[in-house]
Amino acid sequence: MALSPQWLDDLKSRITLSALIMRTVKLQRAGREWKACCPFHSEKSPSFYVNDQKGFYHCFGCQQHGGAIDWMMEQHGLQFMDAVKELAAEAGMDVPAPDPRAAERAEARAGLHDVMAAAQEWFVEQLRGPDGAEARSYLERRGLNDRTIRQFGFGWAPDDKEAIKKALARFDERLLVEAGLLIEVENKIPYSRFRGRVMLPIQDARERVIAFGGRILQDRDGVAKYLNSPDTPLFDKGRTLYNLHRAAAASRKSGRVIVAEGYMDVIALAAAGFEDAVAPMGTALTEQQIELLWRMADKPVLCFDGDTAGRRAAMRAAERALPLLRPGHSLQVVQLPTGIDPDDLIKRDGPKAMECLLADTKSLLDLVWEHEQAAQPLSSPEDKAGLKARLLDHVDTIAHPDIKSLYRRELLDRYGTFAFPPRPQREFKPRSGGKWNDQPQRTPPEVTQRLRKATTGAFRDMLTAAVLNGLAQHPGEIHRHADALLGLAKGDAQLARAVDFLLDNAQELEPSANSPISAADNLPPPPDKARFSFLMEGSDPDDAREDLAEAVALLVERPALEAAIAAATRRFDIDPDGAFAEQQRLRKRKLEIDSRLGQMARKRAAQSQEGAEAQGQQDRAADESQPAEQETD
Ligand code: UTP
Ligand code: MN
Repeated sequence: MALSPQWLDDLKSRITLSALIMRTVKLQRAGREWKACCPFHSEKSPSFYVNDQKGFYHCFGCQQHGGAIDWMMEQHGLQFMDAVKELAAEAGMDVPAPDPRAAERAEARAGLHDVMAAAQEWFVEQLRGPDGAEARSYLERRGLNDRTIRQFGFGWAPDDKEAIKKALARFDERLLVEAGLLIEVENKIPYSRFRGRVMLPIQDARERVIAFGGRILQDRDGVAKYLNSPDTPLFDKGRTLYNLHRAAAASRKSGRVIVAEGYMDVIALAAAGFEDAVAPMGTALTEQQIELLWRMADKPVLCFDGDTAGRRAAMRAAERALPLLRPGHSLQVVQLPTGIDPDDLIKRDGPKAMECLLADTKSLLDLVWEHEQAAQPLSSPEDKAGLKARLLDHVDTIAHPDIKSLYRRELLDRYGTFAFPPRPQREFKPRSGGKWNDQPQRTPPEVTQRLRKATTGAFRDMLTAAVLNGLAQHPGEIHRHADALLGLAKGDAQLARAVDFLLDNAQELEPSANSPISAADNLPPPPDKARFSFLMEGSDPDDAREDLAEAVALLVERPALEAAIAAATRRFDIDPDGAFAEQQRLRKRKLEIDSRLGQMARKRAAQSQEGAEAQGQQDRAADESQPAEQETD
């Protein structure tokens, strides 16, 4: 069976190649492209590139080259048709069946395209004609000039149940019904769907009209302000974005894409010079729409109305996006004034105001945090615990393990600061006189000594040993952490040898293979296994992988922290107050790190004494009499 080039094009355009490849190979951003160590040959520095715009991968080392289908064939060993079928299933496309009906259907679609093009032409004519006078003055009232009206193809559907049928009588009536232009109710003669409405064509990426949206001239209770075409063989609402074909070109230049809620917002934005805007069709953003947006820009900007509905829509989009997040990709949110949409804002305050808003976006994480914090009252401990549970519910939906750990950590940090504000300091406050003057006036030397010890030596070695052995036990995770490990190993010959050993062994493994690497003499002996899920046999593999990722992150943060503490200690003689404050801050962060590690261990060993000890850490934060490194031995 032959697949048409158009069909294969369509399939390719629905697949994001980097996302496909990312499932088995760790890709890094490289400008507009992605790079990695080549999965087709063995190498230590990346020469394998993936380009989503062009839809192909290329290795400058071994010259392997291809698109999504080649990838499935080469890397997953599939036959051509099986590769096509698998990709089509993911893209929600039917593989054309080798029967005559397929040809018929293709012909029918071609027929539908003709019908839609003819309808568009007719609507435009109606707007220009005598019957369109009221609509023309409506558009003028809304501040739309001729250029914009022409550019966006505005039209007018007369308030007449028969007019379009007569105008398009050269087409089979069945085709008009199938195109969604006529409504067919049982036992009744089909009649015009759009009556007395200003018409807006909805176009696909190839600029063909695939649907219409129609707006009434006078808002009335009980009448839908907008009426859209139903889903047809040409129009799949959830896979379409209004204005995509124009915005795609503009966003290639701007590196940005704005997502507004309504047609008129997109048009007002374009007229004000923001040509990189699209809108979903009156429904929540779908996963497919988010993927389309990510092909245009890494962080699409949601610009939803400043009312409860708009905020809810932004949050729904966020919830859709969380499971899909992958490195470098997210959403941003613009907060509009209450009761104002982009169209209103531009009219009221001008394009500059819009520009200011776009320059001050909120991250997806901020959105989740602020939404949940505002969602419920937070006066009692139970309320506060509820906030934490809701935050963690969101974290749980994130599929990407690194992003998941980072969200968990940041949200818990924010939650911690909110739910456990620092108590008034009692200890070692450098001040003279007053009721604390029986306390030492500055941090005694043995304390700074202890601080320094706590972030070096035994603890660090234990964590390092745990991570190295964890990676040997979960070799599938090594490539993900390669960068972090190589960075850590700089200037530490012993660690460098261990990291090299892991990377060498990981390269020999199949991507999916997960048989542990036998460590022998190449790695330090593992510490107490019960403290780390990723060292324990039989722990949940997802948990283990996530804890491992977090341990690596902590390991990376520690040297930076150590350097900062050392620097603060050196400054003590020059700037005692400043150095003291800085040490307090760093020490708090260090305790947080220790507490995270404690939690990791606690998950596994809740009953054990270690668990109990880690639990006490938080409370001990303010208690100088406990040696900070005690739990690390
Ligand atoms: P809005 O109510 O925000 O409309 O709906 P708007 O874009 O500000 O429209 P104007 O300024 O009053 O003309 C946002 C989007 O929701 C869909 C449309 O796609 C609209 O653009 N919608 C809205 C409908 O599909 N049906 C409706 O009845 C209302
Ligand atoms: Mn509006």
